[in-house]
Amino acid sequence: MIAGIPKETREGENRVAISTEVVRMMVKAGFSIKITAGAGKMAGKSDQAFQEAGAEIVKDNQTTLSSADVVLMVNPPSIQEAEMIKEGAALLSYLYAYTQPELVEVLKNRKISAFAMDAVPRISRAQTMDALSSQANLAGYKAVILGADALGKIFPLLMTAAGSIKPSKVLIFGAGVAGLQAIATAKRLGAVVECTDVRPETKEQVESLGGKFLMVKDDAGVKTEGGYAKEVSVEYLQKQKELVAKHVAEADLVITTALVMGKKAPVLISSEMVQSMKPGSVIVDMAVESGGNCALSERGKTIIKEGVTIIGQENLPSLLAVNASELYARNIWALLSHLATSQSFKWEMEEDVTKGCLITHNGDLVHEFTRNILHAQS
Ligand code: NAI
Repeated sequence: MIAGIPKETREGENRVAISTEVVRMMVKAGFSIKITAGAGKMAGKSDQAFQEAGAEIVKDNQTTLSSADVVLMVNPPSIQEAEMIKEGAALLSYLYAYTQPELVEVLKNRKISAFAMDAVPRISRAQTMDALSSQANLAGYKAVILGADALGKIFPLLMTAAGSIKPSKVLIFGAGVAGLQAIATAKRLGAVVECTDVRPETKEQVESLGGKFLMVKDDAGVKTEGGYAKEVSVEYLQKQKELVAKHVAEADLVITTALVMGKKAPVLISSEMVQSMKPGSVIVDMAVESGGNCALSERGKTIIKEGVTIIGQENLPSLLAVNASELYARNIWALLSHLATSQSFKWEMEEDVTKGCLITHNGDLVHEFTRNILHAQS
């Protein structure tokens, strides 16, 4: 089979879906690889490096997309790109299909078998395919670096001849993959770190990284499913607000990562809470693309409100495109080699990973979760 890797066209996207390491592995496994010229440039990978690894460089995305039997991408294709993909081909990329009815229609009509990287089940044996985790991990690190850079203070305790400097306080909302990496990074830089999450089982993980866990006592207020927060009651959010208000006011840097599966992100920092913060303090809202955890954050912008810098940077993994592309490439290859050989796909329709992430196939929308959400909207 020919695997095609186009140049990503999302604004500000620096990542590419393949690395030279994975090109070598795929060539060894019998795939032919076509990559659009310049696709890896922003991720530190030259056309020449890809060629030396065994790929063919083609002139544009039209050529890549129309000639590939399997297309490997980071972002969902635009409608125009989806229309360029060869009929009946396979696609592996992020899709967030339940938010993209128009794209799903095009994929269906073109009989494209589309696998969503964002829907790979979070089961132990699929960990190597888990791009959500690999990218969130890097994003958590970068959020701390951005926050530290915007702060007019250092993180660690410092004793000097001119007197001592107190360590900065960092407060993190959400102890998922990104939040735990943010705790570890802020600790390594010397900050005092606190964290809150609705899932009580995260307490131990936060403490093992040296963070202090702020726990709301209301077990009935949270429903979880498969390790995710599924539903959080209004009463719970109110109790959480009261508990964390004092800690927000004292923090130098607040990083929010709180997401609730398939829903808009909860607003955890109100404008009053921003007002209570010290001038010069910083908020990094990592949930900004899902609606934001801070009432005042603006997607894609850094703003200053009441002397508080609020960073709404989108697509943090793209800012670490070298590492993010390398890990993503390994994730996508782990998924592809699970689903197919270089000759053909296996189509094991009842197998967990296939069932979990195959969205469209043979002209149908086969993914139940996506079907239910899109049908409810139409
Ligand atoms: P996520 O990105 O969906 O959410 C981030 C965090 O926000 C979660 O920890 C969530 O509980 C928290 N949150 C939601 N509402 C909140 C609120 N009101 N206040 C504070 N925190 C709130 O989560 P992520 O990082 O994708 O991972 C979620 C779970 O999946 C974790 O338990 C993780 O261990 C598990 N997981 C399992 C994997 C596997 O078994 N292969 C791989 C990756 C993650």
